[in-house]
Amino acid sequence: MPEPLSLTPTAFDFATLLAELGDVATCIDIEHVVRCSSTNTLLRERMGLGATSGSVLVADEQTAGRGRRGRSWVSTPGYSLTFSLLWKFPIDTNLDGLSLVAGLAVARALEELGLMGVGLKWPNDIWLHGRKLGGVLVEVLFEAGHTATIIGIGLNLRRAPTWQDTVDQPFATLEDDHIDVARESVLATLLKQLLALLNTYAKSGFAPFLRDWERRNALHRLPVVASSENGQHLGICLGVAKDGALQIQDLSGAIILVTSGDVSLRLATQEGLNS
Ligand code: BTN
Repeated sequence: MPEPLSLTPTAFDFATLLAELGDVATCIDIEHVVRCSSTNTLLRERMGLGATSGSVLVADEQTAGRGRRGRSWVSTPGYSLTFSLLWKFPIDTNLDGLSLVAGLAVARALEELGLMGVGLKWPNDIWLHGRKLGGVLVEVLFEAGHTATIIGIGLNLRRAPTWQDTVDQPFATLEDDHIDVARESVLATLLKQLLALLNTYAKSGFAPFLRDWERRNALHRLPVVASSENGQHLGICLGVAKDGALQIQDLSGAIILVTSGDVSLRLATQEGLNS
């Protein structure tokens, strides 16, 4: 059952967005809504109604924003950027590393806007000075003849007063580093990077991006714990493999390959390493 949408208009500046997108505007179809449960969910509904590859849905407010591993994504109108992009690949495309490529596109876009020190935490976090600035949620749907992906991105633009009580982990915002750019400009810069990287990824996979991702690996050579329902791996984060899997060297020296699935990765404490 399609969700009801709020029809209250807000000032979303399409003219600025389209001007900043330039030629890329011809490859995408952008819709703005004031409120929805989740842009990933609504874009999926739109796909059922015929939305094509390159459709973008941006919302001022999500009432049930989703993160990885069943977590919720907190965002606030005027303080956050939340959007999703529908991108279709040929049916047999190997999608290893796709969420890493999306994260890399976000990092590159933010650097283009003047932000220094953006880090990537495998598999889908955007970090700034060791705190979470944004996240990527990729969902894959198999259709006749295509593999459809919905690439959802959430970014903290400014510090909303309520986040102190509602966000359960250390977070960063663009404003913290004096990046005060209209959300339409941030979105245009992100979309341009995303499209450029997705076109390369569709042809060549994750391998061409490996070094660039590694350069921003926020946990490079640090002690980490990767947890999943199958148990925990404690070791040193070596980096990513060509297929986007995370390489951890455990205490016996063995190299463990962690693939995305339902894994959570965190910095290990001294206690964790000793136990
Ligand atoms: C994560 O860090 O676990 C991923 C967060 C992804 C949040 C974005 S906001 C836009 C899109 N819609 C959602 O419900 N989630 C993603």
